[in-house]
Amino acid sequence: MNNNLNNLPIGVFDSGIGGISLLAEMVRTMPGEHFLYLSDSANVPYGTKNRECIREVSLAAARLLFAKGIKALVVACNTATSAAITYIREQYEMPVIGMEPAIKPAVEKNGKGKIIVLATPLTLKENKFNDLFRRFNCSAEIIPIPCPGFAELIESEAQPEVIREYLIHIIGDGSRVNFNEVSTVVLGCTHYCFVRDEISRVVGPQAVIIDGTEGTARHVMRTLEAGGLVAAENSPKRGVEFLTTGDPDCVIPLCERFFDKALGMLNK
Ligand code: DGL
Repeated sequence: MNNNLNNLPIGVFDSGIGGISLLAEMVRTMPGEHFLYLSDSANVPYGTKNRECIREVSLAAARLLFAKGIKALVVACNTATSAAITYIREQYEMPVIGMEPAIKPAVEKNGKGKIIVLATPLTLKENKFNDLFRRFNCSAEIIPIPCPGFAELIESEAQPEVIREYLIHIIGDGSRVNFNEVSTVVLGCTHYCFVRDEISRVVGPQAVIIDGTEGTARHVMRTLEAGGLVAAENSPKRGVEFLTTGDPDCVIPLCERFFDKALGMLNK
């Protein structure tokens, strides 16, 4: 055990509230840990910006969390992982864990039908996604669908009908992609976990909805174990603290509401 570091918090960031879906899963998987969650609301959305910009804002988010004293960093954002994780890892020696669209588990479990991947435009443009696509597209038919503006809509706590209208506009009503042939929808953006039910209503109950939160939380736990970084049983602090680069009066209550939602979704 690494006594100097193990009781420090785990830093987590996303462009906004999306990464709270992963945060809740990590709290469930590692209840003894303390988490500092940064909502980079001054720079939301990430997914429609370019790679250079996302590298810059991700590095600034990482720097802010490192300055607070953390033992590991979780990039709870597919977009920032694709565009910036290698860059962040070059600057810091501690574990930096990211997320990628859960295409591998989707193909392994449900490779037979078509697999829709919903993600931000930048995630789908980056090499990380295109490497995954090439690796798995021979064993399944993968249909990537960029969703510009979707994360902002979810951040704005839009009503379910508005979310469904957006989805019908972006993926159609079943006439462009025959929904009966879709076995799986991969949520390639942490924001989309909050509208899983609406996605299922549009695509139909035959499609399994998969996200990467459970696998990533397990990966974070294994990384802490391997590095001797698990919090001690008597660690003085555990739980969650929210920080933001935006207006704290609006963003912190928003984070708390989404954290409650995420815990509620886990207990369903
Ligand atoms: N939640 C993020 C992701 O997983 C980014 C959404 C955005 O800011 O565009 O990709």
